[in-house]
Amino acid sequence: MRAVSEVIALGYVGLSAPDVGEFAEFATSVLGMQVDPRSTPERLRLRVDERTWRLSVELGPGGLAYTGWEVANAIELDRLAGRLDALGIATKPDADLAKERLVNGLLLCNDPDGNQLEFFYGPQVDRAPFHSPRNRRFVTGHETPGDMGLGHVGIMFTDQAAAQHFYMDVLGFRLSDTILGTPFVHINRRHHSLVIGGTRPGGAPGLHHLMVEVEELDMVGYALDTIRERTGDTITLTLGKHTNDRMTSFYVTTPGGFDIEYGFGGVHIDDSTWTTASYDAISFWGHKGQKAPEKEDR
Ligand SMILES: [Fe+2]
Repeated sequence: MRAVSEVIALGYVGLSAPDVGEFAEFATSVLGMQVDPRSTPERLRLRVDERTWRLSVELGPGGLAYTGWEVANAIELDRLAGRLDALGIATKPDADLAKERLVNGLLLCNDPDGNQLEFFYGPQVDRAPFHSPRNRRFVTGHETPGDMGLGHVGIMFTDQAAAQHFYMDVLGFRLSDTILGTPFVHINRRHHSLVIGGTRPGGAPGLHHLMVEVEELDMVGYALDTIRERTGDTITLTLGKHTNDRMTSFYVTTPGGFDIEYGFGGVHIDDSTWTTASYDAISFWGHKGQKAPEKEDR
């Protein structure tokens, strides 16, 4: 019997970037995220909804620092800790880190590739309403605010089978479908919160992309226009529509060196009726690879 997951959402993501200020400019101008005023030159915190922060970008080499996986409450966190402990998987409660993350409780754990996971409950909801500098509205909720989480992460693992076992059999993430054998897994109505990718020869493990979803297709279009008006951004995959989650999106390389997928219209999963499928392509149309934009015509 497969475990039922205590984890209910991708609550937050920690990233690193060599120039935090440059990332802040990108995140506000292109993505329309809001900078939390308590951010520092070493640690940028970004809002996309009522929570005080969803994305943290810290000074570093560029890439994934940690993922924050939300559980409902202290009882669920204890239950998860007990289950992992019984399986011999090391976890560590960290009250100081919980304070820093502005959550009520936090449990540290590593996945088989050594990625830092933070299981947490009780995130801080800000008393100031979310205000996007680009009038964007992000999709993080379905029935209650935040219940679909920040978005999804695509991570490349050196041992894809071990990662699949850990996230699905141990944590209880549920299979949505596969594309060319790669599992896309969900923990709430969002089609997937995680893509369990496998590194190819010569490919690096780590964050492939972070997806955030906006409420209107126009918001995706406005972001594309902003990128055209700027210089230095690289569209990694052009506008296109994914086969499995039906997301219309594009991928852009951030100043942190990893990609953000910026999308609209992802399907929702109802576990009582959902059946898995397999696909032999990532997209119906678009999502074409593109070289660095030609600077001379901008
Ligand atoms: Fe994606």
